[in-house]
Amino acid sequence: MKSAIIAVAVTAAGVVLPAAAQHKPEQVIHYRQAAMTMIGWNFGTLGAMIKGKTAWDAQEFALRADRIAALAPQVLEGFAKGSEKGATTDAKAAIWTHFDDFKSKSDALVTQSKALSEAAHTGGEAAMKDQFRKTAEACKACHEKYKAD
Ligand code: HEC
Repeated sequence: MKSAIIAVAVTAAGVVLPAAAQHKPEQVIHYRQAAMTMIGWNFGTLGAMIKGKTAWDAQEFALRADRIAALAPQVLEGFAKGSEKGATTDAKAAIWTHFDDFKSKSDALVTQSKALSEAAHTGGEAAMKDQFRKTAEACKACHEKYKAD
């Protein structure tokens, strides 16, 4: 019991430390690209179901939606100050000169992906499809402005 409490405290302390302070820019860039790749992987599976390329499976949909909802709040950590360069990146410099706006787009992804997970567990197929579209808009709104093609 005691060790479990210590483990939680250590984890919490690790999260509070700014990513830039403990990681090299290159590591931060790789972290955000990995988070995006995982979000894209799971979102793509949902998209394939929506388009009818794969069979509709509500349970599978919920699993993937939950993963995206868990990853979305981690995205911002990957854009720590100082990670503008240091490895090949598609992130535009405007992110760090318009960080409040960038953060609001990241917050929108958190909100929409949480709603996607909720729709997957409590809503019907139509609600899931509608919320998928709203989540996709959150991806697009950020990519259009802050990601090079
Ligand atoms: C708040 C802004 C923002 C949101 C929201 C966002 N992205 Fe991204 N995404 C980026 C940026 C910036 C990059 C480029 C990162 C880099 O190269 O360093 C990126 C890169 C990617 C990549 C390429 C990763 C790689 O390195 O190969 C994929 C795939 C991706 N995003 C998918 C998604 C999907 C799917 C969503 C929505 C569910 C989403 N993104 C939402 C900003 C965002």
